Amino acid sequence: MNSKKDAILEQRYGKQYTPDSIQWNNTIESILSHRSIRNFLSDSLPLGTIETMVAAAQSASVSGNLQQWSVIAVTDKLLKEKLAKISRKAEGAEGNYYIEQAPVLLLWVADLSRNNILAKESGAEAEIHNYLDSFLMSSIDTALAAQNAALVAESLGLGIVYIGAMRNQAEEIAKLMELPPYSYVTFGMVVGKPDPAFAAQIRPRISQDLVLHFNKYHKMDTSLVEAYEDDFKSFRIQSGMKEKTWLETISIGANSLAYMGGRENLRSALLKQGFGLK
Ligand SMILES: Cc1cc2nc3c(=O)[nH]c(=O)nc-3n(C[C@H](O)[C@H](O)[C@H](O)COP(=O)(O)O)c2cc1C
Repeated sequence: MNSKKDAILEQRYGKQYTPDSIQWNNTIESILSHRSIRNFLSDSLPLGTIETMVAAAQSASVSGNLQQWSVIAVTDKLLKEKLAKISRKAEGAEGNYYIEQAPVLLLWVADLSRNNILAKESGAEAEIHNYLDSFLMSSIDTALAAQNAALVAESLGLGIVYIGAMRNQAEEIAKLMELPPYSYVTFGMVVGKPDPAFAAQIRPRISQDLVLHFNKYHKMDTSLVEAYEDDFKSFRIQSGMKEKTWLETISIGANSLAYMGGRENLRSALLKQGFGLK
């Protein structure tokens, strides 16, 4: 019996989940304890933190060992303010304030530019880079790298939150960061010491029975979604969030163009950045 394990699994899956077969060690405990942090102290990161995170990022598996990503560590206060402003959906809105609080914002860049230059220098057209798969490959590898870095930060007692809103105004960010052709900011990641005055809870997930399929894809059991609503509701109440069901969240995410906050223009921004997306 491991009471910490039980407590973490209960927060992750709610009361209905029986976690008997889940294995446990320090790495698993750290990964399963993840929660996004949205309140940071302004303290600098301990020396070597960024470099350790990048070593972890570079240790992730990577498509064809092509190494098609980069990361920009933004530590400049004014630049962080600008980026926070750009990430907001509307002028004057207050979202993503944590970008300004924390000491570092990492911009994770899907980056074909390095290889594009190197391939063209050897006299070829680098035609493959004009295909959707190259874009996807670099985006996938960027995400795998970033998540490794996130796990390292969390293992060091730091907190992170991803910022997909960095794609809201992709063209402006590309200009501001002087991104070369064939690169774009896939997402940001705020990194810092969590402010202990705001204890973030583990956010529950849907049942494994909805996401884990053995041998073929099984039809969804909607009663499991209904069961999740209770855990979703308790989490929102405990975290002081306004009332909303998971189904409402899904519906907004699937139907509201306002939810996209500018990301509906991503394709044209990517084309301007030189991606072919064929
Ligand atoms: C690619 C990506 C982009 C995200 N973008 C944002 C964002 O712009 N702002 C934000 O507050 N959280 C963002 N998040 C955090 C998610 O909202 C969060 O991971 C999710 O609600 C689950 O909560 P948890 O991370 O605490 O488990 C993002 C997460 C991912 C993976």
